[in-house]
Order: sequence, then C-alpha cells, then structure tokens
Amino acid sequence: MADGETSLLRIENLTISFGHGADRLRAVRSLNLEVGNREIHALVGESGAGKSVTARAIPGLLPETALLESGSIRYRDTELTALDRDGLRAIRGARIGMVFQDPGRHLNPSLRVGRQVSEALEEHLGLSRGAARARALRLVKLVELADARRVLRSYPHELSGGMKQRALIAMAISCAPGLLIADEPTTALDATVQGQILRLLKRLRSQLDMGILFVSHDFGVVQAVADHVSVIYAGGIVESAPADRLFDRPLHPYTDLLISAIPEADKRGGRLRSVPGRAPDPRAVPPGCPFHPRCPLAREVCRHVPPPLVEHAPGHLSACHFAAELPGGRDA
Ligand SMILES: Nc1ncnc2c1ncn2[C@@H]1O[C@H](COP(=O)(O)OP(=O)(O)OP(=O)(O)O)[C@@H](O)[C@H]1O
Ligand SMILES: [Mg+2]
Repeated sequence: MADGETSLLRIENLTISFGHGADRLRAVRSLNLEVGNREIHALVGESGAGKSVTARAIPGLLPETALLESGSIRYRDTELTALDRDGLRAIRGARIGMVFQDPGRHLNPSLRVGRQVSEALEEHLGLSRGAARARALRLVKLVELADARRVLRSYPHELSGGMKQRALIAMAISCAPGLLIADEPTTALDATVQGQILRLLKRLRSQLDMGILFVSHDFGVVQAVADHVSVIYAGGIVESAPADRLFDRPLHPYTDLLISAIPEADKRGGRLRSVPGRAPDPRAVPPGCPFHPRCPLAREVCRHVPPPLVEHAPGHLSACHFAAELPGGRDA
C-alpha cells in the first residue's frame, strides 16, 4: 500500500460463487486486497481468474445469480457488503466510479454523449440541467477530448473507440470519486490509443487525488501503469507487492513465469498465455496450492496444504510454500 496510510479499499476473505451443488463454481476464493490512497493498484491474472467478478463485487454490480458467500469489502469507513441497493447506488454515484472494457456497450447509442454525461451529474449531484451541461464541458476537457463541444453534441457511433472510452472515463469521474475501478479499460483499443488512455488515467489519479483499481490480463500494460500489483490465480491473490519490487524480485513462481514471458510477447493480449499449462476449471480447483500442477517448484506439501498469503517484506505478500527459494527470496 502506498504511503503507509490507511487504506482506501480493503477486501478481506472474499468468496463469491455461482450455481449450486455439483454445479457450484467459486469464482473468487478467500481473496484479500488492499488499495491505498492515490495508488494505481493493478489486479492482474489470466482469463477466468476472477478479476471482473471481484471488480464488480466492490460497487455492488454482481449479477443476481452471484452469491457473496463471505467476506468484507470496506471503502474508507463504509462496509459495502452491508449496504442495501440504495446505499450502493449512492456509493456508485459519489464515491466509486467504474470504467469497463468495451466502451461501446456502456454508452446509450440513442443519446448524445453530452446528455449522458449531464444525466450522470444531474442524478448523482442533483445539479440543474444548465449547471450539469457546464460541468460536462469541463469534464470532457479534463479527459482531453479535443473539440469538446462537438463531442458533447455527438452520438456514440460518431466517436472512435478511444474517444468513447474517454467519454466513459469522464462520466466515471464526474463526481470526483475516491476510487476508480477500471476493468480492462484499454483492451479493446489499439496500442497507441491504449498508451494515451494509460497516461490519462495516471494524470487523473494525481489531479483528482483518487485511487485506481486497474484490472488487466496484460503484464506489459500493468508494468506501464501500476504502483502496486496483485496477482490473482484461481480466484485468490497469490502475490501482492509494490510494482518495482514485484518485477525485480517476484516471490511466487506464477509471477516469475509471467515476468519471464513478457519479452517473448509480440502480440498484445497474448502475454499471460505463455505460462505453460492451463488455468484450472473453477469447478475443480486443485487441492493444496491451486497452482501446483503448473508449478516448476511444486513438492508434496503443495499438493495438500494451501499456502497462506504471508508478508515476506514490507508490503510484499506471497502465497507460496517456497517463496524463499525464488529470485526475490534468495537475497531478501
Ligand atoms: N454470471 C456468471 N455466471 C456464472 N459464472 C460466471 C459468471 N460471471 C463469471 N463467471 C465465472 O467466474 C469465473 C471468473 O470470471 P471473471 O469474469 O471474473 O474472470 P476474469 O478474470 O475477469 O477473466 P477475463 O480476463 O476473461 O475477463 C469464470 O470461471 C467465469 O466463467
Ligand atoms: Mg474480466
């Protein structure tokens, strides 16, 4: 966590499942995560690891079929799991903003962009129509949309993917949230636009003094943007550390493999697939350490005993029985 201050978001022991009986699938399993004030905290892992389910659980946006089995999600002093629908709605409007992967799907195609941004402001801040319009213009400039007035008059289909994502970011930050959750915000964009959006998010973090939970499956992107990184595997965090430290001295074999795979990657989005083996089926997660079938260091204990997430150095946690044998552990 940044600055050693109190956390902005603290998730403890979160378990979320879908379905019942033999069909039950645990998407998130005893997950712990802490995002600091003004921190860009990346949640990174392979497809199906539970990133989006975790991200959506925070502002209460899980589908009705999801069951929150246990756990605590605390935003500053508020326990979010204890809030009812109205309470969560209020939090979403004023404290926690969210941006998703596919900007096209999250804009209303039949409303001008300006109206959509203004509506968010009218609803959440109770602004009059005129005041909301003026503020919408400021916001659109804040997210560096050139020709702001024209953008506000446009319908979503008249904008490029990058412009749509900027418009959605404008809506997500319209109430100056303390936390922005960005779930793969650049995955659908080409590399140049992706770089621009990452720079924008970094600037907004400083300018608006907010923390960002940045969800990604792309370790290269994470390296470019994150202050702190949590690696998720089969619904649980296996390693969490300040970004520099994680990339220099990983303390989990999965992270180590992900990092060594980065230089080989020439295709965006292909990076995490270069770890040998397959991610486990969430209906049949292996006992013991869930990573053991793919792990080059696995021994007998790993097949039976789940490794707890332990702090090995300040802010550096690993869930591996043999963390001390990894590059980061040998000279720790
Ligand atoms: N509505 C749902 N009903 C049933 N299972 C679901 C539902 N949403 C997610 N899951 C399952 O939960 C697990 C975690 O899904 P999640 O979407 O969080 O993965 P992810 O890490 O975001 O992957 P990706 O990188 O592909 O976005 C997966 O096995 C997925 O199939
Ligand atoms: Mg996802």
